[in-house]
Amino acid sequence: MIEEIKALVDKELPLVSNLSNVSAVINKMDNLNWCGFYLVKGETLYLGPFQGDVACTVIPFGKGVCGEAALKKDTIIVGNVLECKNHIACSSLSRSEIVVPIIKSDKVVAVIDLDSPIFNRFTENEKKELEEVAKILSDLF
Ligand code: SME
Repeated sequence: MIEEIKALVDKELPLVSNLSNVSAVINKMDNLNWCGFYLVKGETLYLGPFQGDVACTVIPFGKGVCGEAALKKDTIIVGNVLECKNHIACSSLSRSEIVVPIIKSDKVVAVIDLDSPIFNRFTENEKKELEEVAKILSDLF
């Protein structure tokens, strides 16, 4: 996935074009029901390019798993979203989730969000891989 994304992204293209294609690459991972980006404006996350069903469009910092990861500037893995009080249920299918912030000059500029219909879907290795993706993408902001 890393090599494919490195080859795909092009700084000359608009951000939306790059993120749209990257969401399609991420979506090739097994057992996802949603993956995509939320983009930061001020202290709010707005829905960006994604693959999957209609999702919530506005998430304040601190709210939901996405807003919490943005506030903490750190990746969050939720093995069981049904037991996570701060989880925002965009899809009733979701059972586990990972949110990885994209950080540029010490500021969160976006988050990568992946949802799975199975519990405990996301591994430590995938966390590292997605954090590498976030590092590559931070160059685009
Ligand atoms: N579950 C997320 C909201 C975004 S959707 O999963 C696409 C959250 O708790 O922040």
